[in-house]
Amino acid sequence: MSLYKTLTLGKIKEEVPGVKSFIFEEPDTGQIQYQAGQYLTFVIPGGEQEVRRSYSITSSPALAEPLSIVVKRVPNGIFSRHMLDHARPGDKLQTIGAGGFFTLPADLSDIRQIFFFAAGSGIAPIYSLMKTVLHTYPQISVVLIYSNNAPQSTIYLQELQQLEKAFRGSLQIEFLFSISKNLSRARLYKDLLKALLKEYATVPGHQLLSYICGPVNYMRMCVYGLRQANVPAENIRREIFHIPQIVHKIEPPDTDLHRVTFRLGGQSHQLEVQYPDTILDAARKKGISLPYSCELGRCGNCVAKCRKGQVWMLNNEVLTERDLEQGLILTCVGYPIGGDVVLEA
Ligand SMILES: Cc1cc2nc3c(=O)[nH]c(=O)nc-3n(C[C@H](O)[C@H](O)[C@H](O)COP(=O)(O)OP(=O)(O)OC[C@H]3O[C@@H](n4cnc5c(N)ncnc54)[C@H](O)[C@@H]3O)c2cc1C
Ligand code: FES
Repeated sequence: MSLYKTLTLGKIKEEVPGVKSFIFEEPDTGQIQYQAGQYLTFVIPGGEQEVRRSYSITSSPALAEPLSIVVKRVPNGIFSRHMLDHARPGDKLQTIGAGGFFTLPADLSDIRQIFFFAAGSGIAPIYSLMKTVLHTYPQISVVLIYSNNAPQSTIYLQELQQLEKAFRGSLQIEFLFSISKNLSRARLYKDLLKALLKEYATVPGHQLLSYICGPVNYMRMCVYGLRQANVPAENIRREIFHIPQIVHKIEPPDTDLHRVTFRLGGQSHQLEVQYPDTILDAARKKGISLPYSCELGRCGNCVAKCRKGQVWMLNNEVLTERDLEQGLILTCVGYPIGGDVVLEA
């Protein structure tokens, strides 16, 4: 069964130098169900193995906007360079659809304020989340702390300024520019973050939700600052864009062969899985097409629900304690242990 869907490029817009928005044509986009904060994974046919790249969706499902993404050039990058230099309206792209856990919780009744922290292209999923919250939850106040080098390189600068005007009273934005002469309000650092929380936070930590997207060290510092301000860990969400290919290889506690029954789209597949193959590897070897993107336990694209048995994961940077309690697992880093396993996706 093929999981691929084809999207047609419509408008292409340069946002700032080295960054373009890609808006997809309407008839195709009806196939894509998504939540604010999710990303699309594109499949680029390659030689031995296809290449996959994920891009956060910047449109808001609440506003029925045309589906869009924003791509920043990565020096020597295969896909981003192709998109920026060669993609044209009418081009077709293959995607496995939307995925990811950088989304709003189903129940926001306890939340009074949302703090968004974005650096550079990290604004992409946050833009969709912000528009969705502002238009759907008028009782929640929104703060965006947005770091960039300079105004000229700030993606959506004007759109955000307009949004702030349109939602005066509900939205406050603090633009931080590294080139600023006022060094105390230039790059985000621990004490500045503390000061900004003091200035803008109007509710106790447990009523505050936070979303962070930017470089790894930036996100680490934000999480640290928020935890110090008594924001519970489960109220802090991160989205990781850059995926270094290093994960320490630790053996699962059980490396025996186990059977995995995988229920997918109304069909049931039988797999035999044994370390060093992950569940995803075993499915691929059998020609079963499962969703995946990073293959490192960092994006959540390969999520499945464990209905029976136990799955050990080499790495998990995306599922929360609550997700794990509900039986969610990641097939790209998952090994069956202690017996046979039944999974559903
Ligand atoms: C969940 C998720 C959402 C994402 N959303 C967006 C988005 O909205 N917009 C966007 O522009 N990108 C986004 N990315 C990053 C994107 O998927 C690609 O990794 C990026 O565009 C580079 O792909 P490439 O094929 O051009 O480069 P590659 O050919 O994969 O890489 C070339 C070189 O650059 C390094 N590199 C790769 N990615 C990065 C990076 N992000 N930063 C610094 N160095 C890098 C690699 O290690 C390699 O050395 C997202 C990634 C994830 C996992
Ligand atoms: S493919 Fe990214 S977490 Fe599994």
